[in-house]
Amino acid sequence: MKLGVNIDHVAVLREARQVNDPDILQALYVACENGAQQITIHLREDRRHIQDADVKNILMHSKLPVNLECSINKEILNIVSSLKPHRATLVPEKREEVTTEGGLDVFSYENDVAYAIEQLHDALIPVSLFVDPSIEAMEKSKELGAEMVELHTGLFSNLWAMLNTSLPHSNHSVKELELSRAELSVRLEASIEQIRLAAEHANKLGLEVAAGHGLNYHNVHEMMQIAEITELNIGQSIIARSVFTGLAEAVKEMKRITSR
Ligand code: PXP
Repeated sequence: MKLGVNIDHVAVLREARQVNDPDILQALYVACENGAQQITIHLREDRRHIQDADVKNILMHSKLPVNLECSINKEILNIVSSLKPHRATLVPEKREEVTTEGGLDVFSYENDVAYAIEQLHDALIPVSLFVDPSIEAMEKSKELGAEMVELHTGLFSNLWAMLNTSLPHSNHSVKELELSRAELSVRLEASIEQIRLAAEHANKLGLEVAAGHGLNYHNVHEMMQIAEITELNIGQSIIARSVFTGLAEAVKEMKRITSR
């Protein structure tokens, strides 16, 4: 399994103080040296963490492929096309969200997504679409010309956390998932099955399949069971653990768990 390490949160911490500490290039170096096989970053429209200069520097210095997440906003697409990352992953973006919520709506924004893929392909950049795990989304992603899909594992991760952690008793409880344990178990199994079916279908269509969002050291084994998923992009849990263990250990441990 290929491990993509998302280092956006290092820039979140830096931007909280508007200083160059922690240094994103140091994070790149440590992740590279300790098992990351890809670096994932998100150049958001609001530039809340990764800045344009970070993308340039990371592309200049990275020994690993760089997967650059971006929205279908025209200005951002122009920047991404000129920066030429190894891959672009199109994600939905809302200004007020805390993180990427839900997959890209490839149905309502079909024309915009098609245009974005064409522009990126013209710049010789392969494209992945971050989509919800449904058969319909796999079909549409293929039809629109993407090489790859990244399955949004947010629902799975939320269900897993509501069932297996103290999340329901915290301020961050997911209100719509405040359900009985029996109901959570049923929905968790259904969410895993949905991911499995979407991955199998995407694979049959000839799409490469990644997964990401909310994956951590405890729930990731569920994704490891799905043979068609060949890449995971993980950020929050690795950077959170690094506060206690250091980034090298945090990346190493995730690499150990996700190796197959
Ligand atoms: N993949 C995509 C497309 C994302 O937008 C994100 C979040 O930035 C991730 C993976 C990583 O999610 P997390 O930080 O929850 O591990």
